[in-house]
Amino acid sequence: MKITNIVGARPNFMKMAPLIREMSRHPEIQARLIHTGQHYDDAMAGRFFQDLGLPTPDVSLEVGSGSHAYQTGEVMKRLEPILSDQRPDVVVVVGDVNSTVAGALTAVKLGISVAHVEAGLRSFDRTMPEEINRLVTDAIADQLFVTEESGRENLRREGIDADRIHMVGNVMIDSLEQCRQVWEQSDIAARLGLERGHYGVVTLHRPSNVDDTVTLQGLVKALEDIGQTLPLVFPVHPRTRQRFESLRVGAESSTSGNIRYIAPLGYVEFISLVAGSRLALTDSGGLQEETTALGVPCLTLREQTERPITITHGTNRIVGTSPDRIVSEAFRALAEPARVTSRPPLWDGKAAQRIVAALLDLHAARSGAAATLARRP
Ligand code: UD1
Repeated sequence: MKITNIVGARPNFMKMAPLIREMSRHPEIQARLIHTGQHYDDAMAGRFFQDLGLPTPDVSLEVGSGSHAYQTGEVMKRLEPILSDQRPDVVVVVGDVNSTVAGALTAVKLGISVAHVEAGLRSFDRTMPEEINRLVTDAIADQLFVTEESGRENLRREGIDADRIHMVGNVMIDSLEQCRQVWEQSDIAARLGLERGHYGVVTLHRPSNVDDTVTLQGLVKALEDIGQTLPLVFPVHPRTRQRFESLRVGAESSTSGNIRYIAPLGYVEFISLVAGSRLALTDSGGLQEETTALGVPCLTLREQTERPITITHGTNRIVGTSPDRIVSEAFRALAEPARVTSRPPLWDGKAAQRIVAALLDLHAARSGAAATLARRP
């Protein structure tokens, strides 16, 4: 079975690593990895390949940064001749970034089957670029692998056949568990002068939060207020760094009040930092899931989440972007005893096994059907 796997941006890498590892355990699978280059520098890509044990990509498309249309179009243009040549049995895409939708579109238009891992999540906010990527990818993918029940419900409501939807759990948690021994050994918190359980971790990069000056200034003000009580460490995403530079706040490696602004971390150091923290404040989707698995309280600085299971089963709370509300919710979270949470169903570190087993079964069924057809007189 020939499988071509596509990654492009930082949140793809921890989803793909366990899939590639699992595929490599099956000699009947010939797996290839294509990196679109949507994220390209060491901090956003290279270090993640190392930390997660991802192999060097078979092909790098080196698309780089640009507008949405540019990124999506360039991935499609550069990918098409490669997929035409490889003719894999299935193309696997993960998550919701521009590389995901571009990979899926290119494959289906060549008549190649597409499997989408992390399908069905919906924020119901179409101003989010990721929501458009999710809707389009799911509408054209053949097999949809979901992480939580809401994903199945959303896809059914959109008219997708139940037999193409597979509830398999969450590959992000596979990576978290596979790297546990390594991140448990990391001394990143101590190197930053932080005491376990006595600091908060911040990440912000959503265009709706960081591209608007008034919103971003309000968020920074809220963080400074919280920082008076709980020291905060803020690994700054490149998009946010560009905005900070124009606002003259948050220079890398600087401390403002009790906020430490640092360069983006690799996977191992970042998970270690979060695992040792008292609280996370974020607009990331992945971090809502990781904090749920780690039992760390999480305040999501957005108006909604596409991952409702992190609220019902996990540690997540949606607090919006009003500075006053963020500050009061943070103090409320700090005053509360740690909530007892349960892991969402199938977030057990074995999602990749289920996905690869399903892909092999589907391939065997398709090959069997094709052989039967060929034998017909
Ligand atoms: C992308 C994804 C988003 C994901 C995020 C994680 C889409 C639509 N968005 O957003 O879903 O949560 O990645 O990071 O696909 N840059 C660098 N180095 C890099 C890559 C980017 O410095 O390796 C800078 C560039 O200046 C670029 C900016 O970051 O313009 C934003 O990158 P881009 O890929 O456009 O979107 P993200 O905000 O990273």
